[in-house]
Amino acid sequence: MSTVLTMAMPKGRIFEEAVDLLRQAGYPLPPEFDESRKLIIDAPEAGLRFILAKPMDVPTYVEHGVADIGIAGKDVMLEEERDVYEVLDLKISECYLAVAGLPNGHDQRVAPKIASKYPNVASHYFREQGQQVEVIKLNGSIELAPLIGLADRIVDIVSTGRTLKENGLVELEKIAEITSRLIVNPASYRLHAARINDLVERLRTLVESKEEGQ
Ligand code: PRP
Repeated sequence: MSTVLTMAMPKGRIFEEAVDLLRQAGYPLPPEFDESRKLIIDAPEAGLRFILAKPMDVPTYVEHGVADIGIAGKDVMLEEERDVYEVLDLKISECYLAVAGLPNGHDQRVAPKIASKYPNVASHYFREQGQQVEVIKLNGSIELAPLIGLADRIVDIVSTGRTLKENGLVELEKIAEITSRLIVNPASYRLHAARINDLVERLRTLVESKEEGQ
């Protein structure tokens, strides 16, 4: 019997698109995927076992080798800097990281306060700009911070732009384009090269054919 690969999948907004992509690439995934609350799902016919993790934790599972492969947003990869291979841009869940704030908001402070779920990305970005800031880590609802005076600006994901708009915030600077990536544990890649390369190539072919069809 061939090896079963363990894949770490991000719960939340990337999940559905990632499941669709795998099915389109020819991996039969059980219906459990669509409604279950299970955190480990076996898909023996696909030769895969899935673990469902918080998006920010996917590279951690892969770095530690408890998952051979995983799907992670580029935002998470930039923030976490884990020791994993990023082998393919899946071109799903497109969005971008941006600095946002109140319109006509003027920073009075020497070191403006920046709220973000991405403290490393935010610190790095402002350091490169030669700007001194104080970064405040939040875990969600980042847009709240400037509205109630916790921070002067935010660094966050923008997808449709609705959250910014409905909360009266404006985008100030774009930091990076984001899509989801296929990531691989380096030791697993050596151990299961044939299986992993087969999966990568199937997905690569699919992603490229979708691009051509656009
Ligand atoms: C993300 C992000 C923004 C929002 C952007 O939050 O942090 O708040 O989506 O999407 P939009 O541009 O389409 O409005 P998420 O929904 O993941 O929840 P969170 O606030 O818990 O981070």
